Amino acid sequence: MNILVTGCSRGVGLEICRVLLRQGNTVYGIARSHTPEFQRLEAEYPGVLFFKSVDLADSVGVRKNVFRDFIVNTVVLHGFVNNAAMAYDDIVTNISLDKLKAMYDVNVFTPMIITKYVLRNMLLHHTCGSIVHVSSISVHTGYKGLAMYASSKGALEAFSKDTAREWGALGIRSNCVVPGFMATAMSASLSDEQRGKIYARTSLKTATSIESVAETTAFLLSDKASSITGQNIHVDNGTI
Ligand SMILES: NC(=O)c1ccc[n+]([C@@H]2O[C@H](COP(=O)([O-])OP(=O)(O)OC[C@H]3O[C@@H](n4cnc5c(N)ncnc54)[C@H](OP(=O)(O)O)[C@@H]3O)[C@@H](O)[C@H]2O)c1
Repeated sequence: MNILVTGCSRGVGLEICRVLLRQGNTVYGIARSHTPEFQRLEAEYPGVLFFKSVDLADSVGVRKNVFRDFIVNTVVLHGFVNNAAMAYDDIVTNISLDKLKAMYDVNVFTPMIITKYVLRNMLLHHTCGSIVHVSSISVHTGYKGLAMYASSKGALEAFSKDTAREWGALGIRSNCVVPGFMATAMSASLSDEQRGKIYARTSLKTATSIESVAETTAFLLSDKASSITGQNIHVDNGTI
């Protein structure tokens, strides 16, 4: 299968690429930075892993940057993983409209526009494809300081469910994975005390495994999940 993965340069996105390649897929990765970790993966999987540096903050440029210059019409897409995202941590009384808009460009508007062209690619090639959005447990449990970020992920969950409804008759599926807190660059600014409080809210009392999130994403993309659509699959160590 050919899978487009955003945010492939590190963290969860890099692990999703690794799992998909191990399973024999071809991966088209997008991020801003061509990291040494990603380059090592390219060396391990020559000819089946491709990279394009794109700043997903540019929602207007998506069609050209992603679909004219990278995923051209002759590439038959079977899957799309919307993983790239940025955090915007602050309390609601401090909201800056500029920061909010910048986050929504990366987390919501660009993924929606990419989905539009992914669907068009699937329709062109009559592909029963699968879309997976990476959401966040903050949508469901709530954390102080994450209202703006969580709202962007909540928008994706609604978008995914309704995309599933709209295109299911053609065999196209759309789901979300909902990770709990993971030890990645995105959560690196948290103190040990903050981390401890977050983990105390989970049943397993530890960080969510990046590997578990990546394996679940790969499962949702595969035919093994052929009857799963419009769902939010929690991979969160049992967060309450
Ligand atoms: N970490 C957590 O605790 C946690 C919990 C729940 C959900 N999540 C979600 O899991 C997903 C992966 O997060 P992570 O923890 O792996 O984060 P991360 O380590 O910060 O990685 C984010 C990825 O997104 C890419 N990205 C960010 N802004 C971009 C932009 N403007 N243009 C292109 N690429 C961009 C980054 O690449 P470049 O910087 O190279 O562009 C990087 O590859 C995200 O959707 C996040 O919201 C994370």
